[in-house]
Amino acid sequence: MRKIGILTSGGDCQSLNATMRGVGKALYNIIDDVQIIGFHEGYRGLMYEDYHIMKKEEFSGILTEGGTILGTSRQPFKKMREPDANGLDKVEAMKNTYNKLGLDCLVVLGGNGSQKTANLLSEEGLNVIGLPKTIDNDLWGTDMTFGFQSAMDIATNAIDCIHTTAASHGRVFIVEIMGHKVGWLTLHAGIAGGADIILIPEIPYDIEVVAKAIKKREKAGKRFSIIAVAEGAISKEDAALTKKERKKKKEKEVKYPSIAYEIGAKIEELTGQEIRVTVPGHMQRGGSPCPYDRVLSTRLGAVAANLILNKEYGYLVGVKNGETVKIPLKDVAGKLKMVSPDSSIIKEAKLVGINFGD
Ligand code: F6P
Repeated sequence: MRKIGILTSGGDCQSLNATMRGVGKALYNIIDDVQIIGFHEGYRGLMYEDYHIMKKEEFSGILTEGGTILGTSRQPFKKMREPDANGLDKVEAMKNTYNKLGLDCLVVLGGNGSQKTANLLSEEGLNVIGLPKTIDNDLWGTDMTFGFQSAMDIATNAIDCIHTTAASHGRVFIVEIMGHKVGWLTLHAGIAGGADIILIPEIPYDIEVVAKAIKKREKAGKRFSIIAVAEGAISKEDAALTKKERKKKKEKEVKYPSIAYEIGAKIEELTGQEIRVTVPGHMQRGGSPCPYDRVLSTRLGAVAANLILNKEYGYLVGVKNGETVKIPLKDVAGKLKMVSPDSSIIKEAKLVGINFGD
C-alpha cells in the first residue's frame, strides 16, 4: 500500500480543496492500493500527530468549496528550528510522525514560507511534493499559483463597485489590495478595474507624483480618481532606508491603520480632495474558486499524483507557458517572484496612462 500525507499550510485561498481533490482523485485513479492521511492545520498537524485517514468520498463535492477541509495555520519557517513552548524539536517531531505513519510521500499545499519548510523536510530525507498556493502569485518557478485568479476577481469587483460611487461623488478613492511583499494582485486587479494610479512594493512611489497625477486628472475635468494600493506599497523615501531605520522612523510618525490611510491623509493634504479608503481585506481569500483556478488546481493535483506514482519526489509542481512543470524544491525555496518594474505589463499600463507614482 502507498501511504500519502497531505496538508494545507499558511494563509488559505479559494482553491485549496479543488487542488486536494485533484490529488486525491488522481491518486485513487492511478494507484490501486493507496491511503491518504490528512494533517490538520498544516504543519501543526504533522508536528503534533493531529490527522485523520481520509476517505475517498472526502475528495468529492469539494471542487467549488472555498477554504480548506483540513484547516490551516501559519508555522513560520524562521521558527522551525526553534523548540516549541514545551521544548519540542519541531523538525524532529514532523520527521517522527512521517516515519511512524510509514508515509511514502508528503504533499504540501502552501506558499513561500511553507515551501521553504517543504524543502527543509526534503533535505532531511522525507519524500515531499509541493503545490503552489497563494493569492499573491509570488512563488518562484511557476507562472501561476492557485488562488491568484480567484482573488483577482474579488479585488477587481471591489474596484468596479468603487467606480460607480466614485463617479457619482467626485472623490478620490483608495482601494487597498492584499500583498505585503509583491504587487501582482494589485497590478492585475488595478488594470482590470481601471484604476488611475497603481502603487506596488516593487515600484516605490513619490507622494508628490501621486498628488500631481490626481490634480492633472482634476484639471482635465475628471471628477474622480481611483488608486489601487498594495498592502506593502512603499514610498521612495522609506525604500531608501534600512529596515531598522524605517522602524525607527515609523515609531515617531503618526500611526495609520494601514498604508491606504497613510497615503489618503497625505493626498488630502496635498490636493485638498475628499478621500475615501476601502480595504476588502480577507474577502480576497474567500468564496469559491473561479473556473481558471479549478482547472489549474485539477491539473496540478493530477501531476502531483503522477509524480507519486513514479516515485519522483522533491519537486514543486507549477505551470510554465501553459504547460505543467516540476521544479526542484531546492530551486524554489527562499525565492520570491516579483513584478519587474521593466516588465512589458508595466510599460503597457503606463502607455494607457496608469500612474505608478514613480
Ligand atoms: O499570503 C497571502 C496573504 O493573503 C497576503 O496577501 C497578506 O498580506 C497576508 O496573507 C495576510 O495574512 P493573515 O491572513 O495572516 O492576516
